[in-house]
Amino acid sequence: MVFRRLAAAAAFAFVSTVAPVSAQDFPKGPVTMLVPFAAGGPTDVVARLVARVMEKELGQPVLVENATGAGGTLASGRLARAAPDGQTILLHHMGITTSATLYRKLAYDPKTAFGFVGQVTTVPMLLVSRPNFEPADFKALLAYIKDNKDKVSLANAGPGAVSHICGMLFMQLTGVKLTTVPYKGTGPAMTDTMGGQVDLLCDQTTGATGPVKTHKVKAYATATAERIPVLPDVPTAAELGLKGFEVGVWHGMYVPAGTPAPVVDKLNAALKAALHDPETVRRFAELGTAPVSDAEATPEGLKAKYFAEIDRWAPIIKAAGEYAD
Ligand code: MLT
Repeated sequence: MVFRRLAAAAAFAFVSTVAPVSAQDFPKGPVTMLVPFAAGGPTDVVARLVARVMEKELGQPVLVENATGAGGTLASGRLARAAPDGQTILLHHMGITTSATLYRKLAYDPKTAFGFVGQVTTVPMLLVSRPNFEPADFKALLAYIKDNKDKVSLANAGPGAVSHICGMLFMQLTGVKLTTVPYKGTGPAMTDTMGGQVDLLCDQTTGATGPVKTHKVKAYATATAERIPVLPDVPTAAELGLKGFEVGVWHGMYVPAGTPAPVVDKLNAALKAALHDPETVRRFAELGTAPVSDAEATPEGLKAKYFAEIDRWAPIIKAAGEYAD
């Protein structure tokens, strides 16, 4: 009898712990969308555009929180420690995969910490400068930085940020080591570039298109294979003789590992709705980007990309021997 009661209690306990989470239970309240870089920067811009539609779909506010620091790894760590219930999500760019190698000590295991909602966008990059920076064009810039390397500053959003990777690539290809200046995101870095406090910045079109079009910064070259349609007058670096200067930034949405499938599915449906929303598509186009395909905007699409990119960057970073910690 005692044994039967114990068995029944054990069975009840087992059923209650594995009881399926239904999509109706989610979201229970506001969803926090962590963004690893400062407000007003390119990642923040994408996050806020997507959050605007997701909150209508989910029926609860989606609150963007700029959890800045340590090249984005602080926000990733926050997500890894959050309850796996979908109430905390992360919108991050490819830096989440480079930091898996760039940072030898992380507060989470990048191979197991995250669940995947879907890819979001792919954004081109370009090299800009303060508006009154002396070199008139890219050729003049290359000569100028060689002659003045100790004086020229290059802003970025910290080790592991794509502006950092893009700047490192530029310095490697030109053979000139500039003084790098880290910020909490390229939002504030762009403000200082416009204000003339720093000379150069490699930024995503989602942050740079407006300042370039309004001549608040000077654009020297794109880090793309083809010219960027929204900035047709800016030549590619390859056109100007600098081959290999190409950085394409992709963004993804993550949950803590162990988040139940019905919750991930609901978040994914909301993400897809955001990516199909005409206003998102229009604003993305204005900012030189576009939503990813439906196949990429899936948990499987992001998971495959995430692990492929960790494997792609690991040997490159190890060969360079430059770590963030
Ligand atoms: C970066 O350089 O990684 C991004 O532009 C950061 C940001 O969104 O501010």
